[in-house]
Amino acid sequence: MPIRQFQAQRMHAPRDFQAIANQPVCVEIGAGKGKHALLFSGQNPEKQLIAVERTREKFLSMQKQHGLEGQQNLQPIHADALPWVVHALFPAQVEQFFILYPNPEPHNPAQRWLNMPFFEFLLSRLKTGGQITLASNIPDYIEEAHQQLIEVWKLPFVKEVIPADSARTHFEIKYLERGELCQQLIITKPEGCTTRFDDFQPLQGQTAAAAE
Ligand SMILES: C[S@@+](CC[C@H](N)C(=O)[O-])C[C@H]1O[C@@H](n2cnc3c(N)ncnc32)[C@H](O)[C@@H]1O
Repeated sequence: MPIRQFQAQRMHAPRDFQAIANQPVCVEIGAGKGKHALLFSGQNPEKQLIAVERTREKFLSMQKQHGLEGQQNLQPIHADALPWVVHALFPAQVEQFFILYPNPEPHNPAQRWLNMPFFEFLLSRLKTGGQITLASNIPDYIEEAHQQLIEVWKLPFVKEVIPADSARTHFEIKYLERGELCQQLIITKPEGCTTRFDDFQPLQGQTAAAAE
């Protein structure tokens, strides 16, 4: 893969980090107030979902609603997803990642998920046949990600228009009400796909210094 290598060993553990077991999980990144996380875990009781959100107020809102609804298979986490993924997840552990309406980063294209070296690390945590759903209301964001999938990551995907009556997340509802085109890429990790992180075990809360 031509992209610069992600420096996983430099990631410090998130504050109050707690390790997880090496069992199949789904992971939502940037879960916001948790609407999708609560819906998905309710509709898929056989799946375990971890919903990671960096912004405190949004995380607290998700946590509060989770307290009311009580899904046993949902674990909300307050953390930046990059260090959390590096410290918590095992290779090929994840069945599905959800990245729904990520920040568009208009002034910082290098911070968009498929432009980041971190994406290779994310791919290493996905099991063969596992999927990443990336949704956006910004056609250029989807188009750029589409190109990255072909030119850099060389992964199979499908592109879908999200139906006008879909209501998975707060942002999705807002954008569809405004009549905006919302699309998603569903990316699959194919058989035989390898990354430079396939043997990288989770740092499990060690500091970077201790891990080196
Ligand atoms: C535009 S909002 C979308 C929220 C939700 N997915 C929705 O569709 O309603 C993007 C969210 O991603 C979160 N976020 C951005 N970068 C993140 C990161 N590195 N780790 C965890 N959350 C992140 C932001 O705090 C924000 O809540």
